[in-house]
Amino acid sequence: MFEKFSLNKGKTAMPKHEDTKSISIPNHVAIIMDGNGRWAKKRGLPRVAGHREAMKTIKRVTKEADRLGVKVLTLYAFSTENWKRPKAEVDFLMKLPQQFLNSYLKELIEQNVQVKAMGDLSRLPTYTLSAVNDAIEKTKANSGLILNFALNYGSHAEIVQAVKKIIREAHSPEDISEKMIADHMISPALPDPDLLIRTGGEIRLSNFMLWQLAYTELYFSEEYWPDFNEQSLQDAVRAFSSRQRRFGGLAEGSENP
Ligand code: FPP
Repeated sequence: MFEKFSLNKGKTAMPKHEDTKSISIPNHVAIIMDGNGRWAKKRGLPRVAGHREAMKTIKRVTKEADRLGVKVLTLYAFSTENWKRPKAEVDFLMKLPQQFLNSYLKELIEQNVQVKAMGDLSRLPTYTLSAVNDAIEKTKANSGLILNFALNYGSHAEIVQAVKKIIREAHSPEDISEKMIADHMISPALPDPDLLIRTGGEIRLSNFMLWQLAYTELYFSEEYWPDFNEQSLQDAVRAFSSRQRRFGGLAEGSENP
């Protein structure tokens, strides 16, 4: 069981033109980008320096995910619980989407990336919201990788709002199905993640996409998010590719008792 979470270290990088036909590429990769504060602390820097560095990682991981053929990349950028952090850090985090998009939106557009966001965006400061909305608007016709930012997102809050919507629509209990619940989640149009990566060495989900992760392959990396690079993503994809997904069924050819 524990082996499932073992790290896939020491493999060589997937060269740019490696034949990836034999490797199964996850359609939707979701990432809990953890370890920014510890990355900074290790260098004697303020925590926010780690968040600043994190933006460079977002840039290179987006590019590499696109190159590998990932279709959706969801990044946990701010949780409903992150408001509990000191105000100065929250203020800093809230400025990051604007800074990130100021620096990289042009490149994302050139890469045909489509920006999306999920979470309770109504609580975001106006400058954050308008930067995000502007990026969504300017990339909505793009047909490449979907870069989905989870902003002020929490899975419990998402489930509560889904239940409220369902009750408001006055469905009777008999009508409730798994599909109906899924359809009332924040991003019903996105497929469930195939691979969840959490950096920073912690092994937990931290209220992230609990409904959608039911059959997702989990991959935990010791690396701090600012250190995560193309090779790290390739390692995670390789580990994913070596897993056998059964979705509660049996492996092929093992039907006989
Ligand atoms: C976790 O590290 C990271 C966060 C709470 C924030 C992540 C946000 C970004 C990477 C920037 C988002 C930017 C855009 C473009 C939307 P931590 O601070 O909990 O690290 P620690 O566990 O080492 O303290």
